[in-house]
Amino acid sequence: MLAGISAYAAIRATSIWAVYRATGDMNSGALSDAADQLSWASYLAPGDPGPDLMRAACYRQMQQMESWRRCIESAKAKDASAALLSRETNLERIQSGRFYEGAEQDIEGMVESGASMQDVAAAFVRGYLASDDTAKAKLFLDGWLKDSPNDAHAVFMRGVYWQWLGDRDQAESQFKSAVEMQPRHELARAALARLLEQQHLLDRSYAEYEELRRRCPASESGPVGMSRILRQRTQLDAAREIMAPLAARSDTSRDVALEMGQIETEAGRCSEAIRWFGLADNGLADDVDLLTAAGVALALADRAAEAAPLFDRVSDTIARSGKTYNLQAQLVMVPSDAAAAEQLRELLSPDAGTQSQSVTVLPPPQMPAASVPPVGRELYIVHCSACHGVDGNGDGRAARHLWPRPRNLRADRFRLVSSTNGVASNEDIVGCLKTGMPGTSMKAYSSLSGDELEELARYVTTMQQAGIRRRCENAAAEEGEQADEAEIKILVDRLTTAEKPIHVPTIGNLNAEAVQRGKVSYVKQGCKSCHGADGVGVPEPELKDDEGRVTRSRDLVHEPFKGGKQPSSIYLRLAAGMPGTPHPASSTLGVAELIDLVQFCRSLTRQPELALTNRERWNVATARAYLERIQ
Ligand code: HEC
Ligand code: HEC
Repeated sequence: MLAGISAYAAIRATSIWAVYRATGDMNSGALSDAADQLSWASYLAPGDPGPDLMRAACYRQMQQMESWRRCIESAKAKDASAALLSRETNLERIQSGRFYEGAEQDIEGMVESGASMQDVAAAFVRGYLASDDTAKAKLFLDGWLKDSPNDAHAVFMRGVYWQWLGDRDQAESQFKSAVEMQPRHELARAALARLLEQQHLLDRSYAEYEELRRRCPASESGPVGMSRILRQRTQLDAAREIMAPLAARSDTSRDVALEMGQIETEAGRCSEAIRWFGLADNGLADDVDLLTAAGVALALADRAAEAAPLFDRVSDTIARSGKTYNLQAQLVMVPSDAAAAEQLRELLSPDAGTQSQSVTVLPPPQMPAASVPPVGRELYIVHCSACHGVDGNGDGRAARHLWPRPRNLRADRFRLVSSTNGVASNEDIVGCLKTGMPGTSMKAYSSLSGDELEELARYVTTMQQAGIRRRCENAAAEEGEQADEAEIKILVDRLTTAEKPIHVPTIGNLNAEAVQRGKVSYVKQGCKSCHGADGVGVPEPELKDDEGRVTRSRDLVHEPFKGGKQPSSIYLRLAAGMPGTPHPASSTLGVAELIDLVQFCRSLTRQPELALTNRERWNVATARAYLERIQ
């Protein structure tokens, strides 16, 4: 009996000790570690709702609302006091901008009942921002910082405020000060790392994620961020290794599953990827990132038909958030617009979009394809239409999420050509299918047989021909004339038949003299004006491709080349140009000078290559266009 009591006392003491340590973690901003301690405390004292409520506060600050909800449920089940429960749920309302009558008068009471001043203050600042009241957020922040200028939480929130206003430099310097004051401030360090990552300062970003992992071992943001960066550098094995401990846990979080799914997608292990995306789909049916990633994985696994509904849902969700935004804007201008208020209420109600939510992210696997050898059109529908569209118009379901956009196979010129007239030969197209276009979502089709690739290439050419024919007929119809069949045939042939192939000479190993001569030509030929003196590109001019879309020159140092980096491919890109893009054919140069230029381009390239995601490529391209416009 006595032994029982002292064991109980020991457990109780350990639980109190865990709560005590968690409080310390929370004060220094190490929220995941605090949550970890608290789940230990709950385990030791299963009937006590206190640790659940504290844990809820941690998740709320990290904005992990699923976990927050679970903790609140658990605290309720343990008969937590109504006052403490409502303090936590009120803070959640405030933080998400759903202020209730008298919220500001509650501040003192919340602090007296044990909430930390920093937590309450941060909830108000976030709430004002969420309800678009930046003036109040600023007023509140200024007051807070006047009282405690060295409070890392306040400085962090000032960073959040600047980020909200779109001022990256200010945000970065505030996040930096916050982690200097409090090196374990998890949210500040994660925000700093993310900001650096968004600016492609990958080394610095990686170092911050690594530091985050070291200082806050329970935080997932550190390893997940490290893995994302390793992925951009195509170091997939290293990424997998860093994620391994998190991936092995039985309660994998959404972020971890999403990251694992992306690693496997990029490694070409699509069924593994699809499994992870299935795990990430924990009722978060409207998550655009998840849906897009899962859709791309399915498309790459030749399950295009199943990918389609996912892309539809992405469009739905984006359309819905656009509508929400418009209604909110309308209500700011005309607060009395009852119809808009009602519509907004409907859109934001938890039942909105149930129709699309009734589909889960991942449908069951498709039946294996029949074993008759499929012909061009069928192969095309299965492997290519998700991106290039059923008819080859470049408007497949995935297209709008990709950058660069998939080629319109009926209208656009092809980039990878080896002929003197800039038309892709059958071998060029087969070659492109075999190796893909590195740095874009056009992947290599190494699993298809040589015959199948030939079929596909021929089918692509028939689409091209049909497209040209259609344009001729339309042009004639506009003039009120009947198209001349003989003329059309000549035109179609001319535009889709590759003339003489360009002869590629033997290109030897890199040598210093050739590189030196190449560097001189590089400047003389004006390559510098688009690719920059150091090869990494220049912010201007704003370049457009023939389809009128924003494009940018290749970063010759860090990026992969679409035609690959073999000397012979680079030679062809220089001699033939890349039709449809601003990159010119250097048709007047002699063989020797071209070889020198190839050698110079090769000498610039550095490993590992930068592998950006679709969205990142888009951001880089449009940011440059944007900079150009505002300067
Ligand atoms: C995941 C999306 C995706 C799939 C699937 C896909 N492509 Fe592409 N494809 C692209 C993108 C994006 C580009 C444009 C890349 C660029 O502009 O740099 C492209 C470009 C091309 C080009 C132009 C090559 C050139 O030299 O300009 C051809 C031809 C092509 N794809 C054929 C196919 C065929 C055939 C298939 C099926 C076997 C296929 N693609 C599957 C995304 C895809
Ligand atoms: C008017 C601007 C412009 C000039 C001048 C220019 N380029 Fe380019 N270059 C581009 C653009 C844009 C691309 C990317 C095209 C695309 O992928 O859509 C590119 C792509 C490249 C590539 C990558 C090929 C691949 O397979 O992806 C190399 C290499 C290259 N350029 C080298 C050169 C050299 C060497 C010169 C000088 C002889 C030069 N460029 C002149 C704009 C230019």
